[in-house]
Amino acid sequence: MRPAKDFFRPLAVGAPEPLRSIPARPSRAIHFFDPSNEKMAGKVPDMVGKVDVLLGNLEDAVKADRKEAARAGLVKIAQATDFGPTQLWTRINALDSPWVLEDLTTLVTEIGDKLDVIMVPKVQGAEDIHYVDRLLAQLEARAGLQRPLLVHAILETARGVANVEEICGASPRMQGLSLGPADLAADRRMKTTRVGGGHPGYLVRQDPDPEQPDQARTTYQQDLWHYTIARMVDACAMHGIYPYYGPFGDISDEVATEDQFRNAFLLGCVGTWSLHPKQIAIANRVFSPSVDDIRHARRVVAAMGDGTGAVMLDGKMEDDASLKQCLVMVELAEQLAEIDPELKAAYDAIEVAE
Ligand code: GLV
Ligand code: MG
Repeated sequence: MRPAKDFFRPLAVGAPEPLRSIPARPSRAIHFFDPSNEKMAGKVPDMVGKVDVLLGNLEDAVKADRKEAARAGLVKIAQATDFGPTQLWTRINALDSPWVLEDLTTLVTEIGDKLDVIMVPKVQGAEDIHYVDRLLAQLEARAGLQRPLLVHAILETARGVANVEEICGASPRMQGLSLGPADLAADRRMKTTRVGGGHPGYLVRQDPDPEQPDQARTTYQQDLWHYTIARMVDACAMHGIYPYYGPFGDISDEVATEDQFRNAFLLGCVGTWSLHPKQIAIANRVFSPSVDDIRHARRVVAAMGDGTGAVMLDGKMEDDASLKQCLVMVELAEQLAEIDPELKAAYDAIEVAE
């Protein structure tokens, strides 16, 4: 166990000081691109400013014989691009793969000053984060970096889920968690072959009517990921870091994509992955509080005065606690308005009724 007094000490001489808290930077969509795919990589500069996070993916979905090209491609793109307000993240290969050591060494050395967050797949426990933590400190010191790189873990093994709280608290670098529903389903031996989203077989059924037992009974599809996302949200909130939904593979089903994203948003996630440009617009819409929510939240804030006591608005009770719920929305809207002019205009136009 690392004693509390040492928790914020750099893990290598000359490495930057760890952050005391993780900045709440908008990250509604983390858009994945394959840096070894020249056509896809060529579009990256045009996406700057249009998506909150661009992520150069080196892990799954990049063929083994393209791993080095992907790493080199990411270095080239990062060096040539001014990312302005858009964050640059990467997903490195798994810690037991033959590529990860060179991924970290090359990326921190060559483009450590451009990268914001390193996503680590298949994290099993705190020991994986401790390994990356020390190695990053050594590499940061060698590269002379001034700010620490942050680490994001994908929750995609049963062991990772069992250890989720200790993963979140393993290092001051921990920025957040994403759900990895495909690997997690395989690791748990779940019987879905879909990448994220629901399954028509996972349902509950209305009781039979005793008078007409043969009548058709309504079924309600359930969310396969509810338990895991809820655990992630609690673990992240407890440690002051950020939870994200992960991939939704059925890109053609925009309605189901939106539903899955919205469930994650309502439960407390701040963003999601985007695997196709059309998922960016969906994520930006879903992970931004609606104008109606902000109108209501501002009305409660205004009515609650010093923030204590209770008031009635439209027949509903509002008090200190519901004010805090509203402030979550108002603060998120303020953060998003700083980087999204359209959203700012929509929020600015809100008139709050008495
Ligand atoms: C993502 O990496 C997943 O396995 O779903
Ligand atoms: Mg995975």
